[in-house]
Amino acid sequence: MKVSKLAAHLVGSEIVKIGNEVNDMKAKGAQIANLTIGDLDSNIYPIPALLKEEIEKAYQNNLTNYPPANGLGTLRNAVSEDLKYRWNLDYSPNDILVTAGSRPLIYATYKVIVDPGDKVIFPIPSWNNNHYCYLTGANGVEVATTPENNFLPTADDIRPHVEGAVLLALCSPLNPTGTMFTKDQLTEICQLILDENSKRSEDEKPLYLMYDQIYSNLTFDADHYDPVSLFPEMRNYTIYIEGISKCLAATGVRVGWAFGPTEIIDRMKALNTHIGAWAPKPEQEATAKFYADPKNIDHFVFDYKNKLKTSLEALHNGIQSLKTKGLSVDSIQPMGALYLTIQLDFIGKMKPDGTKIETSSDLVFYLINEGGIALVPFSSFGDTKTQPWFRASVGGLSLDEINACIPVLEQALLNLK
Ligand SMILES: Cc1ncc(COP(=O)(O)O)c(C=O)c1O
Repeated sequence: MKVSKLAAHLVGSEIVKIGNEVNDMKAKGAQIANLTIGDLDSNIYPIPALLKEEIEKAYQNNLTNYPPANGLGTLRNAVSEDLKYRWNLDYSPNDILVTAGSRPLIYATYKVIVDPGDKVIFPIPSWNNNHYCYLTGANGVEVATTPENNFLPTADDIRPHVEGAVLLALCSPLNPTGTMFTKDQLTEICQLILDENSKRSEDEKPLYLMYDQIYSNLTFDADHYDPVSLFPEMRNYTIYIEGISKCLAATGVRVGWAFGPTEIIDRMKALNTHIGAWAPKPEQEATAKFYADPKNIDHFVFDYKNKLKTSLEALHNGIQSLKTKGLSVDSIQPMGALYLTIQLDFIGKMKPDGTKIETSSDLVFYLINEGGIALVPFSSFGDTKTQPWFRASVGGLSLDEINACIPVLEQALLNLK
């Protein structure tokens, strides 16, 4: 079948692909700790009871016709109030756009800012920016990061690339690493953007910042920082991405929102009228009720986050115990989100069947088959295939299951020579 050039070269999500393969093997009886997909097992992490009740009520009340194109007014009001309460950010409901989860907002941000060939900067590893660049014909510029900086880019890493760039895509807490910008790191990057924009004429596009803070309510000990709170002048250039998928454990409910400069948000709204990725009206209605009182979020997140933190620390401690025993492994202290960054330095080793582990994917599939544990290689987040770093997402497992996978992992790694 003949398809467009774009479709012919489209690459689906590698993470979803690995996750599906693991689920197929589990369905056939394999015992695998699935640490791949950034999702939550809704029996371990159910959505808030009030949210569920209000969704049911909205369907009972027949709230099933089209929602307004930019989202229900009650929801945008509630989000606007929550932004004030939580981050002291002052955005009017008109500068907020609601869609079916956050992905349509990321796509719309790219589509509204980027012309084919425009330079877009994003760090490696990061989530899906390579794919959004492909979809918009952007000239994606990948910025390498280091474990010493928790895999977050510094202003110095970004500086050589800002000339002529129209978009910088950042995320904190970061998927895939679960690490966060420090105040100094983000301050220096904002300063760099402001300096660059001060050199541009009125006729040129400025350098915009897409700031994805979808995990901002899921931080453990460190504080979350955002561009406009650090520099009010960043307001003209920053598009924020948020939503309930992660912070209310509601990945399947599909409610997300963006906020930013009126001109950008209005055009994103117009684009979405053609895509139709509105969040379902009953889910918007229920989210509005839930967000009407910020305490609802605080209460829900308190327990949920502690549970995630306990799981992440159990995994981190397990990896550290293997390191103490002399295995070539490491992990980075989890700071937020659902993720732990794990290093397994076994690329180049021989498997018991005499074949060599050439890439991080080879190691992933060896561990799925022999170690009962499924991870995502950083190559799925744009990194090279030989980097020995992996993402573990803990939302799909109980604490017992996480503790149980450490000895199996240890044995599988010991079997590599
Ligand atoms: C950093 C980041 N932004 C956005 C999203 C998209 O979330 P949604 O499920 O609301 O589309 C994800 C999902 O994994 C994510 O990790």
